[in-house]
Amino acid sequence: MNYRMPKSFQWGVASAAYQVEGGWNAGGRGPSIWDTWCHKNNRVSGDNACFSYQRWREDVQLLKNLGVQAYRFSISWPRVLPTGRAPINQRGLDYYDRLVDALLQNKIKPFVTLYHWDLPQALEDTGGWQSRETAYAYADYARLMVERLGDRVTNWMTFNEIPTGIGKGYELGIYAPALKVKPKALALIYHHVLVAQGLGIRAMRAARPGQIIGIAHDPFTPVPVIEDAAHIKACAVAYERLNAYLMDPMFRGTYPKFLPVFPEVKTGDMKLVSEPLDFVGLNIYSGLYTEPGKDGYQLVKFPTHYPTSEGLDWLRFIPQALYWATRHVDERYGVKAIYITENGWSSDRQRDVADWCNDVDRILYLRCYLRELHHAISEGIPVRGYFLWSLLDNFEWASGYSKGLGLYYVNHKTGERRPKRSAGWYKTVVHANTVV
Ligand code: BGC
Repeated sequence: MNYRMPKSFQWGVASAAYQVEGGWNAGGRGPSIWDTWCHKNNRVSGDNACFSYQRWREDVQLLKNLGVQAYRFSISWPRVLPTGRAPINQRGLDYYDRLVDALLQNKIKPFVTLYHWDLPQALEDTGGWQSRETAYAYADYARLMVERLGDRVTNWMTFNEIPTGIGKGYELGIYAPALKVKPKALALIYHHVLVAQGLGIRAMRAARPGQIIGIAHDPFTPVPVIEDAAHIKACAVAYERLNAYLMDPMFRGTYPKFLPVFPEVKTGDMKLVSEPLDFVGLNIYSGLYTEPGKDGYQLVKFPTHYPTSEGLDWLRFIPQALYWATRHVDERYGVKAIYITENGWSSDRQRDVADWCNDVDRILYLRCYLRELHHAISEGIPVRGYFLWSLLDNFEWASGYSKGLGLYYVNHKTGERRPKRSAGWYKTVVHANTVV
């Protein structure tokens, strides 16, 4: 079997500002909710992360060496707008200006995420996503970025993983800003984020027409435990039940009737929250085995011996998830273009760097998943590209530096980068445009 990808397929890698940059108080940057969270917990901290604020030139060289055509990174909102609102902090913007220029000089297309969970603390102080005002601030920020970078950046993602960012940050209280709000308030928070997205898209398009705007989303992915018609149907029901609370408003402009609580919606909101996207990005690491059940579906329990990543217990080895994730979104919402905006494998950091870098397990995972992506493309599902998470072993949120998902090992004391075996493998794949 040949696993060649279409000619126009874009290979990339992904990262996020707070996870790699460091320089938390350099160049006039303001604090984000993650700085506050880390400094309060005093356990893990992204103060230096991967030193990419200092070593970005080296990162661009690593990208060039991999041969990728695209790099997904995020802008730190408080670096460019320290209080979350104008005026722009020019020194902060300079950092992204230079990064974008260097990428383009090396023929690497920037894919920019506007929000990867690092809300400016000043906005959290006035209510954060509980306040509709934050949505207006977001739209201004999005517009400013398109005005200043949109002459060179054309591909944007409005938000990264709304369910995980909001779910862990505002419902479960395990990520910044560590709140545990009630269901009604939570529904309103999600609605405000969707309003922000709609306002942002309108502002970006008005500022500079022709921008290609998507989202990096992380829907649950039901996977039929047996691939027959009954299981496949059960998966479609599960997909709706688990994801429609956010995806129906976003793609259809309606909240599903089965929701237990609804947010308060203002006139015009449903049109606003369904402002069309040019592509949907999917962050897919794992899936949920599903079978028919009394509500139309039921999830299948994972046995304790199920192959699971060493570092993150939710990251299970389910290659078919990449196929089903793209098929579900295509079937239910008929999107124009799909990118895999994240996919990767984690392990617990070892002291022995040579052993750590001999990551044949990561190669196994990636190869199996990418073959399933090829399967989706061969069925005509419009998948346009793939971003591997991640370029570097970075700051893994509440887990700090104890896990690694990078193609490159990073020494977090010195910033030194070292390729793992998977970097060589990925380079070969990108070069051949084939899953080898
Ligand atoms: C996030 C990344 C994170 C990765 C691995 C995704 O949820 O977007 O920021 O590092 O998963 O946990």
